Amino acid sequence: MQVAVFGARGGIGAALVEALAGRADVARVHAGSRNPLAARGKIAPFAFDYADEDSVVAACTALAAAGPLDMVLVATGRLTLADGTGPEKAVRNLSAAALAEQFAINTIGPALVMRHVPQLLARDRRGVFAALSARVGSISDNRLGGWHGYRAAKAALNMLIRGLSIELARSHPRALAVGLHPGTVATDLSAPFQRGVPAERLFTPAHAAAALLQVLDGLGPAHSGRVFAWDGAEIPA
Ligand SMILES: NC(=O)c1ccc[n+]([C@@H]2O[C@H](COP(=O)([O-])OP(=O)(O)OC[C@H]3O[C@@H](n4cnc5c(N)ncnc54)[C@H](OP(=O)(O)O)[C@@H]3O)[C@@H](O)[C@H]2O)c1
Repeated sequence: MQVAVFGARGGIGAALVEALAGRADVARVHAGSRNPLAARGKIAPFAFDYADEDSVVAACTALAAAGPLDMVLVATGRLTLADGTGPEKAVRNLSAAALAEQFAINTIGPALVMRHVPQLLARDRRGVFAALSARVGSISDNRLGGWHGYRAAKAALNMLIRGLSIELARSHPRALAVGLHPGTVATDLSAPFQRGVPAERLFTPAHAAAALLQVLDGLGPAHSGRVFAWDGAEIPA
């Protein structure tokens, strides 16, 4: 298999790259980040930055030339904004700039990758597109409020995955596109919010990556367009 991971320097993304490179059925892991990794073994680095749309096009064009791919994983995302501002606690904290940043990284960036997925995935065999979403992107599961921009951006991401799944079903009958919730994982993203999380519910990136890959292995085209948690349970829309 040839796979690609966007966000290969992130906590979960790096663990996905390592887990995939360790699999006997994976020949090459294309590992994308803003600041590319060093090439080693099966890991072939590439650069992209959502802030530069042309860089995503160039990365996907190069991947398509190296492909077809069996799996495209998007492990990028942001919860705290670049200026250190945390997610909104109440609607009175909403701001256009904060919402724009949440959507830029959590929705629009992955959408720029999704645009290329039909060209990237193999048509003659199973193909997987998965993007890291979050349980808090579930509209029906939102009972606590808060984190408005992040929640909305992940809900919008889930809708885009659903739309992609409908198109893929027509052109790639053996493919699937899903969102994934990794659980609470000890990474930079969750660092300010880990207090109060019981130790057994705070996963290492390696644990989360292994669980997510196991979930993906158990999914087929019938699951496409939906969102699944690390334990395989479906997250309602
Ligand atoms: N950690 C958790 O508890 C948790 C829970 C639920 C959902 N998630 C989701 O899981 C995903 C991964 O999170 P993580 O915990 O691994 O976070 P992380 O360690 O902070 O990694 C975030 C990733 O996003 C990338 N990124 C940020 N801005 C970018 C941009 N402009 N262009 C390209 N890439 C950009 C970073 O790339 P660079 O390496 O280039 O900076 C990095 O790879 C996110 O979608 C997050 O919402 C995480």
